[in-house]
Amino acid sequence: MNAKRITPLVVIGLALAGGVIFLQRRRKQPLPCPSNLSWLLENPVMNGMAGAKKLLDRAQVAPGMRVLDVGCGPGRVTLPTAERVGAAGEVIALDVQIAMLDRVQKKLDAQGVTNVRLLHAGAGDGMTDSETFDRAFLVTVLGEIPDKPAALREIYRALKPGGILSITEMYLDPDVQMPGRIRKLADETGFDVDETFGAFPAFTMNLVKPLMG
Ligand SMILES: C[S@@+](CC[C@H](N)C(=O)[O-])C[C@H]1O[C@@H](n2cnc3c(N)ncnc32)[C@H](O)[C@@H]1O
Repeated sequence: MNAKRITPLVVIGLALAGGVIFLQRRRKQPLPCPSNLSWLLENPVMNGMAGAKKLLDRAQVAPGMRVLDVGCGPGRVTLPTAERVGAAGEVIALDVQIAMLDRVQKKLDAQGVTNVRLLHAGAGDGMTDSETFDRAFLVTVLGEIPDKPAALREIYRALKPGGILSITEMYLDPDVQMPGRIRKLADETGFDVDETFGAFPAFTMNLVKPLMG
């Protein structure tokens, strides 16, 4: 690789490290990632570690599906999901921060996307419909949620039997949740742990809502 290509990656890497240190210092309690730090999520380094296409493939998202993107942030995964599910499908993008949803709305308007609905709510607040989703995403969100069991119970209820909750965590994230912790939460909620993809720096665990609950 030549210097012209390496320099921007070094700059992005240093900026990411600075962002992580900033977040680490405010870590005493779970807090939502501020919307002005969206660049920490939308950059080539993040894309290489946990890019949207990889996450959609891992969750087996297909045309016509209804998908719940919990903690959608600036829509990094939401918009590619909308494209994958197509006109016959729908994405509900839920976030506790209106500033994040505003960012998603701007992108939807700019790209003329019509199969995404935004939902301003906290995970666990019980604002989602029951048994209507084929897939749900929690991508680098779980650690920011204060009541994790309530959030998982809500997502379990929102999924159809056989539906998949795909959780992705990154070790660079100061709020990272370890696989053992996720397994415990999954067991307590009634999910079966189906598949795990990747390891370091990011991994995905697919939790399935059993057909017979
Ligand atoms: C690190 S960002 C990840 C965004 C997106 N999933 C991605 O991978 O690009 C975490 C997002 O979760 C949202 N969030 C944090 N706590 C939440 C909660 N209790 N309920 C819903 N969203 C929450 C934050 O507002 C933020 O947008």
